[in-house]
Amino acid sequence: MNNFALNDGNTIPAVGFGVYLIPKDGPTYDATLAALKAGYRHIDTAAAYFNEEDVGRAVRDSGIPREEIFITSKLWLQDHGYEGAKRGIARSLRKLDLGYIDLYLVHQPYGDVPGAWKAMEEAKTEGKLRSIGVSNMTPKIWNRFVPQFATKPVVNQVEFHPFFQQRTLREIMAADDVKLEAWYPLGHGNAELLTHPIIAALAEKYGKNTGQIILRFEVQEGVITLPKSTNPERITGNLNIFDLELTEEELQELRALDTGKGFHDPDAPGVAEMLLNAYQIED
Ligand code: A2P
Repeated sequence: MNNFALNDGNTIPAVGFGVYLIPKDGPTYDATLAALKAGYRHIDTAAAYFNEEDVGRAVRDSGIPREEIFITSKLWLQDHGYEGAKRGIARSLRKLDLGYIDLYLVHQPYGDVPGAWKAMEEAKTEGKLRSIGVSNMTPKIWNRFVPQFATKPVVNQVEFHPFFQQRTLREIMAADDVKLEAWYPLGHGNAELLTHPIIAALAEKYGKNTGQIILRFEVQEGVITLPKSTNPERITGNLNIFDLELTEEELQELRALDTGKGFHDPDAPGVAEMLLNAYQIED
């Protein structure tokens, strides 16, 4: 359960450490090193997080063999299309400076996604990217793009937590054995979720905190989960979820918390333009 098999034969640690919104030039370096010391072997960054250099430096300085650490990064929108993606992939490889990237994702599914995907497929064949996947694809976006791809994505990284369980999307993805990766796995710290009586009762029963119960639920549902924390105790604790097993009845109770709605709607009008204008990645 600590690792999941991907549909291309590679494996991925079920829990990863996300560095979204952790500043570059120091804080991301410190947080990544702390996470590696705490036992994480899966770090999730992106070109648009502006901290790939810090992640790479922390991994190199950690003393842990490169092949024991799983690194994800993501292509930003400005680099979509075939030629753009070649440049974006080369830039991520250079900034991370770790030889290869374990998993590279199309961060936002707008613009010339098929062109970008072709460049990612080539980089995978060349061994620069070990696995390739997508992110923020709704069922509508998935059905528009993925049938055109020669290589199936290994993951789709989307918002997922007990209040937003992505049922339709998971059914579509299951047909191609594509794993769901969860961003906002703790509902972005939503107090209603983190103090929910059903979850609190399970936390009491298993001697865990509510966040750990949520993460355990997600992993038992086959979801790769990327919790965020800046608190050292919770960073360590969020990895300490492999010594309990929720029963089928408990899983059912947690499945029933789904509201079908999340914070972010990738299908909403204007989202692509808003995101494209949000960041400019420099070489
Ligand atoms: P903190 O950094 O103080 O730990 P998400 O990963 O869904 O975006 O949620 C992140 C939020 O959840 C942060 O506010 C983080 O706060 C909080 N958090 C992280 N781990 C836990 C946990 N085990 N229990 C409760 N809250 C948590």
